[in-house]
Amino acid sequence: MNIRLRVNVLKWSSRGGTVRLVDLQEQQLQDGLKYVEKLRADATDHDGEWGRVETSQPSSLQSTLEDAWLVVECVPENLNLKRKVIAELDELAPEGTIIASNSSSYGIFEILEGMSLKNNKRVMSAHCYWPPETSAIEIMGHKDSDPKLIDLVLEQCKEHGFSPFHVKENSIGYIYNRIWAAIKRETLLTLSEGVATPKEIDAIFKDVLKTPKGPCEQMDVVGLDVVLDIENHYAESRSGIPTEPRDYLREMIEGGNLGVKNGRGFYDYEEQRK
Ligand SMILES: NC(=O)c1ccc[n+]([C@@H]2O[C@H](COP(=O)([O-])OP(=O)(O)OC[C@H]3O[C@@H](n4cnc5c(N)ncnc54)[C@H](O)[C@@H]3O)[C@@H](O)[C@H]2O)c1
Repeated sequence: MNIRLRVNVLKWSSRGGTVRLVDLQEQQLQDGLKYVEKLRADATDHDGEWGRVETSQPSSLQSTLEDAWLVVECVPENLNLKRKVIAELDELAPEGTIIASNSSSYGIFEILEGMSLKNNKRVMSAHCYWPPETSAIEIMGHKDSDPKLIDLVLEQCKEHGFSPFHVKENSIGYIYNRIWAAIKRETLLTLSEGVATPKEIDAIFKDVLKTPKGPCEQMDVVGLDVVLDIENHYAESRSGIPTEPRDYLREMIEGGNLGVKNGRGFYDYEEQRK
């Protein structure tokens, strides 16, 4: 389920502006509309008019983009697909449309590597978070970005209820993701050394930091295969990343533990599903 897309919809439509959802799958679009309705019903502190939410297929992208000031790609995390979609948006979007990527692991400078666009100054990363209540959004440009457009997006994010953060340099990982990656890595290392159990790590983490979830619980929510992909990306991109956390994750995945999505991760979720 493309939950990020729906969060964007809620916030970007909160000031009355129209938001257009584009997806290959009609079911995703219909689920998206329902989800937005639910989020709107829960948003009791909202005042003013919500904007319209329209849906369409990629085949009519050009007309969908006609008067858009911003377009955010949210396609699956595959570098070639991201590049294909960004190239298409650059080709079809009007000159003044800002193009953003919601990619979690590829900064816009990595996506743009080797690409030749009509106008790369208007392209940036705009990465938001799960769960839907999270208002943080991280904006990252690249060496040729137009600083005025970055400022405009930061300002518009604020106007639409996000808490925007500017990633000021090309970065492998966003600000929050980098800190979270270090927590995950050290958690996995601690587990691999047999120092503590997942339950103990989560309990001490929650006790000291007063957060609702510990790192093992949170990794289970994200999915251990996704956690491994992200960690692999860090390891490919820079030196000094220890191998033990990835080995530990690989063993868990090979043992059929993917987290909440398949009912088994650091914890057993089968009971909760019944
Ligand atoms: N999973 C997370 O917690 C999270 C958080 C923030 C950002 N993101 C980023 O959001 C993006 C999407 O991730 P997801 O987990 O929602 O993926 P997902 O697979 O759930 O959703 C992707 C959607 O893209 C659609 N799609 C595929 N190709 C398309 C195309 N060419 N044109 C239009 N639609 C197309 C699919 O039908 C699907 O509905 C990724 O870049 C991911 O890194 C994910």
